[in-house]
Amino acid sequence: MTPDGNAIRPLIAGNWKMHGRRADATALAGELARRARRAASAELRCELVICPPAPLLTVLADIVADSPVRLGAQDCHLSASGAHTGDISAPMLADAGCRYVIVGHSERRTDHGEGDDTVRAKAEAAHAAGLVAIVCLGETEAQRAAGETLAVVDRQFRASLPAAATAANTVIAYEPVWAIGTGKVPTAAEIAEVHAQLRTLARGRVGDGDRLRLLYGGSVKPGNAAEILRIANVNGALVGGACLQAGDFWAIARSCP
Ligand code: PGA
Repeated sequence: MTPDGNAIRPLIAGNWKMHGRRADATALAGELARRARRAASAELRCELVICPPAPLLTVLADIVADSPVRLGAQDCHLSASGAHTGDISAPMLADAGCRYVIVGHSERRTDHGEGDDTVRAKAEAAHAAGLVAIVCLGETEAQRAAGETLAVVDRQFRASLPAAATAANTVIAYEPVWAIGTGKVPTAAEIAEVHAQLRTLARGRVGDGDRLRLLYGGSVKPGNAAEILRIANVNGALVGGACLQAGDFWAIARSCP
């Protein structure tokens, strides 16, 4: 709950990563859209977003149209257009039907050498295109072992967020790198500690920071979602592996308190 007593509507986002062909992607998105259309609001207490690979965006935009399922992309370029072979701009994603875009995922930071400055520029590009940026951050296993988790998260938050970030145009996803795709999950106390710090940072640096959605990501499954989503200042989840089965993703969405 925020100080004004309004609960933040949780966000459950599925990061499909580099998975999906037209046939299975259409079936998965179609099944989620069907369930979401049928669900009463008491049953679906969250906003539901799918982030498929870019070639599927326009196909799936039609599939989820007129349903509560929203579309997101997994990355964008920091320029609106130009000579950038292979890249995709935020205005193109908006044009394809996206409302969200993930920026700064640890796989982008690692595989493509993206630092906080690049992530911030991408979030700015997303905002300029009218998209909500889901900004990812989180410590490595070595950083946690060295007791640096809060310092790393603090630094990434300050450096990765545009000055104009608000609760309306930005979502934070705390994803410990060592928890992504490993089946390892921090304890509830460890997640609570980081999210409490993120809330304090949000209040100081983000417009309407009390309402900024703070997601947890990293090995969220149907079996642990309810416990994670009950933790203070956890306002949803960014889900990788478990979002590729409609039943599992739906079960996670249904776990929102
Ligand atoms: P995972 O991935 O749920 O498979 O751990 C999460 C993510 O990378 O966003």
